Amino acid sequence: MKLMGLSREEVKRAFKNGEFTIAVYGMGKMGLPLAAVFADHGANVIGVDINERVVKMINNGENHVKEEPGLDELVRKNVEAGHLRATTDGVWAAKQADIMVILVPTLTDERGNMKLGPVYDVAEKISQGLEKGDIVITEATMPPGTTESLIPILEKSGLKPGEFGLAHAPERTMTGTAIRDITGQYPKIVGASDEKTLEAVIGIYETINKKGVIPMSSIKAAEAVKVFEGVYRDVNIALANELAMWCEEHGLDALEVFRAANTQPYCHLHMPGAGVGGHCIPIYPWFVINLAKKSNPRLVKTAREINDSMPHHIVELTIKGLNQVGQPVKGSNILILGLTFRGGVREFMKSAAIPVIKELKEWGANIYAYDPLCTPEDAERFGAEWKEDFKDIDVIVITADHKEFKSLNLKEIAEQVRNKIIIDGRNVLEPEKVQKHDFIYLRVGSI
Ligand SMILES: NC(=O)c1ccc[n+]([C@@H]2O[C@H](COP(=O)([O-])OP(=O)(O)OC[C@H]3O[C@@H](n4cnc5c(N)ncnc54)[C@H](O)[C@@H]3O)[C@@H](O)[C@H]2O)c1
Repeated sequence: MKLMGLSREEVKRAFKNGEFTIAVYGMGKMGLPLAAVFADHGANVIGVDINERVVKMINNGENHVKEEPGLDELVRKNVEAGHLRATTDGVWAAKQADIMVILVPTLTDERGNMKLGPVYDVAEKISQGLEKGDIVITEATMPPGTTESLIPILEKSGLKPGEFGLAHAPERTMTGTAIRDITGQYPKIVGASDEKTLEAVIGIYETINKKGVIPMSSIKAAEAVKVFEGVYRDVNIALANELAMWCEEHGLDALEVFRAANTQPYCHLHMPGAGVGGHCIPIYPWFVINLAKKSNPRLVKTAREINDSMPHHIVELTIKGLNQVGQPVKGSNILILGLTFRGGVREFMKSAAIPVIKELKEWGANIYAYDPLCTPEDAERFGAEWKEDFKDIDVIVITADHKEFKSLNLKEIAEQVRNKIIIDGRNVLEPEKVQKHDFIYLRVGSI
């Protein structure tokens, strides 16, 4: 059933009755939860992926995104019920579907330069199956203006915008909380090419999201929402880092000051730390910087510089700790805890551990690493030797907030190490507990 021209209430009824088909392109960490949620609300869903293993697993009712709580059951149940299936054939899926959602990787380098190959590849496939009344929705995060750059590709179908609909509805979530977020943690943001498309897309997302939909005046405005959310985080983390380093200079504990300041409702000082990693927060500011013509987003650029300098500050704290016990950096044994960019996710984009390892090696330190989500080969790839104990370690540097690190047995560690120094780049430990075992304990913004 084609949805353009239906009211949102008609769309919701059709959704629950399984009267239309949605193809979701990209069955990864974001796409599979979305497809499963769509299916769970009654739609016929086809998941499309170039990865044959992923497609096979889904068709067997198996979930391959293990980090996502609840997804095993959601996939199994909806595949068994015949609401969800998967294919590698993107053209076939487009021919079956009335709604096509693009949720493939939008790859960038560290400065936000896009490699939109997967998105354009999917748009080409969709154009070969696009019919009058179909709606194409991008959910993948993209620089403002990118969704509309797909129009010439989609027009290869012989249809013009207005005959097909185009919309952007950014994925406002992250790995590990996707199902919760998609179904109602935050409202869905939607921008569309025309009123009919907007109305239909509102109906789709109101069906699955308890928090409802915020309609935007354009596709580009919807794209900007997601990008600005990331920029806000980056700039505010940079502010926290800058103030925390100022506190260090003035003998103040930044977290004590921040906590007290944040009791005032207009103050939201963020958590300082070892830097900002991942595919989102450190990348989106570059979309703004790269697209600026006359405007000059100086604050955004400076924030990037500050956050990128934080791994160097972690090295400075490591040296400060070693100085306090009179141990030279050269030849000291340093254990990096956490190779991933954050806790609970095996992703390495702009992980703080990588520059910290590199710089400490340049100082002549022996670098060891451990991460509950990694392998010895990962450690080797980043220039460290895998180590699962604390024997003869001089400094422990925590660079990712894995839950396992919150419950480190400090008594046992204190017995194994050569020097008792912890640099907590993610504020995962409780200072009182660490100090009880006579560790030198330094954080960004500690006295
Ligand atoms: N992971 C997150 O926390 C997160 C949060 C918000 C937004 N996003 C955005 O969501 C989008 C998808 O991210 P993800 O984390 O799900 O990626 P992912 O790498 O986990 O999964 C992407 C999937 O797309 C498939 N794929 C690649 N090229 C394809 C093609 N041409 N046709 C069909 N399938 C193809 C891959 O095989 C993979 O299974 C990105 O734009 C990302 O920026 C991600």
